[in-house]
Amino acid sequence: MTLIDGKAVADQIKQEIAEEVAAIRAAGGKIPHLAAILVGHDGGSETYVAHKVKACEQCGFKSTLIRHENDITEDELLAEVERLNNDPDIDGFIVQLPLPKHISEQRIIEAIDYRKDVDGFHPINVGRMSIGLPCFVSATPAGIMELLRRYDIDTKGKHCVVLGRSNIVGKPVATLMMQKSEPGNATVTVCHSASKNLKEMCRQADIIIAALGQPDFVTADMVKEGAVIIDVGTTRVPDASKKSGFRLNGDVAFAEVSPKCSYITPVPGGVGPMTIVSLMRNTLLAGKKAIYK
Ligand code: GUN
Repeated sequence: MTLIDGKAVADQIKQEIAEEVAAIRAAGGKIPHLAAILVGHDGGSETYVAHKVKACEQCGFKSTLIRHENDITEDELLAEVERLNNDPDIDGFIVQLPLPKHISEQRIIEAIDYRKDVDGFHPINVGRMSIGLPCFVSATPAGIMELLRRYDIDTKGKHCVVLGRSNIVGKPVATLMMQKSEPGNATVTVCHSASKNLKEMCRQADIIIAALGQPDFVTADMVKEGAVIIDVGTTRVPDASKKSGFRLNGDVAFAEVSPKCSYITPVPGGVGPMTIVSLMRNTLLAGKKAIYK
């Protein structure tokens, strides 16, 4: 069994990006600039955004964090998005989700200029991805594909079972895995809460990508000998032994599943670090105007 070290791969990619930014700087070019809008004080969102700002520093990017209180109106947030759309110094920006209930996330996402949508959530980027055109691919699916690429994992013709159909992970990673490219070119089955025979489906899988948000959902009896397991779950589970009072738990029962696998991602330290680095890569591409002029 090979443990897929997402942290090490992410560190390596950050190093590669930093070297490219140093070259841009030396040539007098524009330093990529990422902005993040954070509404409210959700613990998870605060942590994620702090990690994104730190990653920007490590890559040599400029970053701007814009905070708003929970009572910001949808119109005010739309005006903030418009301001960033029109700010020539900002190459890309994200609006951290979730947003308060009185704000439509979809309206906000659709208001972002797709050329600055480094999260890859805008329907134009999602649509372009689905037909294989250059676009910003959302960070978690892009990170999973990069891990498969860097570990040289053979996906062609394999049966890949994706657990979960979210717009952020399940749907886009299923799309990428079926695309005629390497990695990709797999036979993809998407399972979700209404799926029948889910266990049988998993047992037939050469590759399982678990993105349900249900701790320890995938157990050893669901996994074929030699399968590749990508665990996207990051649920906060109370844990008195931790200083924070919680630990991050994956969707896979790691202790019992890992002995059966050829490759497996741990939680934490697997897909998570790759998600942030994929956002950095998109920001670099935005800064270089490599996808859209
Ligand atoms: N909330 C959880 N994941 C993400 C992400 O990748 N981007 C944004 N904007 N919000 C999130």
